[in-house]
Amino acid sequence: MAEGCELPCLSPGRIMRPDDANFAGNVHGGIILKMIEEAGAIISTRHCNSQDGEPCVAALARVERTDFLSPVCIGEVANVSAEITYTSRHSVEVQVNVMSENILTGAKKVTNKATLWYVPLSLKNVNKVVEVPPIQYARKEQEEEGKKRYEEQKLDRLETKQRNGDVIFPIINPEPHTVGYSQSSLIHLVGPSDCTLLGFVHGGVTMKLMDEVAGIVAARHCKTNIVTASVDAINFHEKIKKGSVITISGRMTFTSNKSMEIEVFVDADPFVDEARERYRAVSAFFTYVSLSKEGKPLPVPQLLVRALCTGLRASGASPAAAAPGQSPAGSAQHILFPSIIQQKNMRGRASGLVGFAFVIFTPVSIET
Ligand SMILES: CC(C)(COP(=O)(O)OP(=O)(O)OC[C@H]1O[C@@H](n2cnc3c(N)ncnc32)[C@H](O)[C@@H]1OP(=O)(O)O)[C@@H](O)C(=O)NCCC(=O)NCCS
Repeated sequence: MAEGCELPCLSPGRIMRPDDANFAGNVHGGIILKMIEEAGAIISTRHCNSQDGEPCVAALARVERTDFLSPVCIGEVANVSAEITYTSRHSVEVQVNVMSENILTGAKKVTNKATLWYVPLSLKNVNKVVEVPPIQYARKEQEEEGKKRYEEQKLDRLETKQRNGDVIFPIINPEPHTVGYSQSSLIHLVGPSDCTLLGFVHGGVTMKLMDEVAGIVAARHCKTNIVTASVDAINFHEKIKKGSVITISGRMTFTSNKSMEIEVFVDADPFVDEARERYRAVSAFFTYVSLSKEGKPLPVPQLLVRALCTGLRASGASPAAAAPGQSPAGSAQHILFPSIIQQKNMRGRASGLVGFAFVIFTPVSIET
């Protein structure tokens, strides 16, 4: 721990209950993400208010790629610990660890290590970012390493701006194992219990709903017990206000032998605020694995990408050109979905690259 910073925020631990888990007794990844975010929000808000300054609430701005190292089961206790590891002028880096504990045998396992970035927002003015009190580092190298991580995530943020144009449309009679077969959406009215003191949604609530949708997509695709394996870095660009209606949509973008990549979008409709139109608040990629009854990873059915572009070709429109919430011009029944091809980027981490693969076009006659 960095010297002089807050004591780590240690939660007393919580017993995992049946409503935290799927039918096979594995705790949902979204529950764990929500606990991680709560611990991060507590420690960073506490730190940002530790000196005489403007009262503020720390808002989740980013979660680095998070791996789920082993499943947590009903009856086990999840212990969450958080530590502030770096502060920039306006942001706080928090490292959160989750450990599962079997309280009958005493066996403990590290299940998650996550890095989150929070930005303090003034209690008086939600749009004002306030300054973060600096922490004291035990060693000079800790500060240098933290600065390096800060610079890296800033660069990554520039590279991975949201893909605002993408929309998910319902598909009639989809063929099994195509994108349309498993794509799913949830609609949620944002209530007070979902929100921070400033009246916008907690990042953990959003991530839980995103994981729920990704889980439905994965289960529909392979019809087995599925678990979250990892979540790619998520940036929270826009606040979602209390009273908004949010639509969380997910679609399968890639399958490898034993894993599925699912893209999830969160669109917010702040209909109580007439001045604002529906907007894309968050998007992220989740990776899921299908498990056998013995808990071993199973091969997954391969994703079939089909496109019937009749109306689109005839009209010259492209689905990506459609604005959020609107259908593209033409009468296509199947939408041309970009397939995400997983590649290793220069840092050796899996990342999504948009491309088109295995696209089958139906011949159309164009009347002149
Ligand atoms: C986080 C937020 C306030 C930043 O607003 P902004 O207009 O980008 O602010 P600024 O450009 O002035 O940046 C302020 C600080 O935030 C940091 N920041 C901004 N976006 C960030 C991100 N995605 N990840 C990490 N840090 C981020 C900047 O680096 C800067 O810190 P620095 O000056 O020390 O470098 C804004 O993006 C927001 O409101 N996001 C939604 C937050 C939220 O609702 N969270 C819950 C999830 S639903």
